[in-house]
Amino acid sequence: MSDFIVSLIDVEKSFGKNKVVKKMNVEIKQGEFLTLLGPSGCGKTTTLRMIAGFEEASSGTIMVQGVSIEDKEPFERDVNTVFQNYALFPHMNVFDNVAYALKIKKKSKDEIAKRVNEMLELVQLQGYERRKPDELSGGQKQRVAIARALINNPKVLLLDEPLGALDLKLRKQMQVELKRLQKKLEITFVYVTHDQEEALTMSDRIAIMNEGVIEQLACPREIYERPLTKFVAGFIGESNIFDGKVVNVQDQLLVVETTAGIIRVNGDGFEIGEKIHVSIRPEFIELSADPIEGFNLKGRIQDFIYMGTVVKTSIELKDKKEIKYSRFEKEDYIREGDSVNIGWNPERAVAIKANK
Ligand SMILES: Nc1ncnc2c1ncn2[C@@H]1O[C@H](COP(=O)(O)OP(=O)(O)O)[C@@H](O)[C@H]1O
Ligand SMILES: [Mg+2]
Repeated sequence: MSDFIVSLIDVEKSFGKNKVVKKMNVEIKQGEFLTLLGPSGCGKTTTLRMIAGFEEASSGTIMVQGVSIEDKEPFERDVNTVFQNYALFPHMNVFDNVAYALKIKKKSKDEIAKRVNEMLELVQLQGYERRKPDELSGGQKQRVAIARALINNPKVLLLDEPLGALDLKLRKQMQVELKRLQKKLEITFVYVTHDQEEALTMSDRIAIMNEGVIEQLACPREIYERPLTKFVAGFIGESNIFDGKVVNVQDQLLVVETTAGIIRVNGDGFEIGEKIHVSIRPEFIELSADPIEGFNLKGRIQDFIYMGTVVKTSIELKDKKEIKYSRFEKEDYIREGDSVNIGWNPERAVAIKANK
């Protein structure tokens, strides 16, 4: 049997003429926390629903544990889903909500009580058995939904923006709890979110989706440090992205002409004359009153924004493009209206093929 617990092979999905998932190929490892991350409408929920078997792929194959899911009914699969809106049964108390799947399977009363108790302990909700969903907070409801989904011992848990309805503080707390739970149980999580920070904190690997296509599938660090496409560079964290043309190549060092001036970046496989995107994080930008070697990029300091942990500075370039520079503290030597030279260590910037 393959090492992969879930495989999507050339999966496509259309609603009428609208193709919302395009040639998707993903292989998910046993015990992995894999996140589908992308803006609203990019096809995340549709992908998850196909893995769950609620939606049929228009073409391609989805395998769970080496078996094509078309051959199995949803209830036969070792896959369970947690939704953003919890989908609890409102008239049932916590115990009965969690027990539901075992009751359907006609398990004994003793076994049900034992398993429900274990699950409530796992999600730290002992003592809440008799409460109805409307007597619970959002975080507690979501814990019940997770307990209910886990009681069947699924091999794979699918989670569709499960923390989306919670306020920021609770969401952060639940992120840590969920990640710990997943590690402890060694269950494969396929997690959907549009929140890049959530994806970066929780995932082993992230699949970045844009308009039905996975643009990059990699670990958080690689996604952050080595974005493969302009979309990924712009979507993850904050980046300054320049469009330009390679005008010189010296080994790995590329000299790039942009409408704002000359810049540098390290990159492999580029030729003179080729179009390129260059992405540089605000924390890697350097400012100087004097010219910076290899750069001819000037700007004017526009304003400063205090963000608590960092100060962000907006700088307007010659072509009116605005870029961001960030440091932990405000530096006294730069003031609004100052003209500055802008540069960076070319190793810190990322060269992206212009067709990507
Ligand atoms: N049942 C459906 N019928 C028609 N179009 C749908 C249906 N479900 C989703 N879509 C469309 O598919 C696209 C992707 O939707 P979805 O997978 O829900 O995106 P996401 O979860 O990333 O926000 C959207 O344009 C949405 O309008
Ligand atoms: Mg969705």
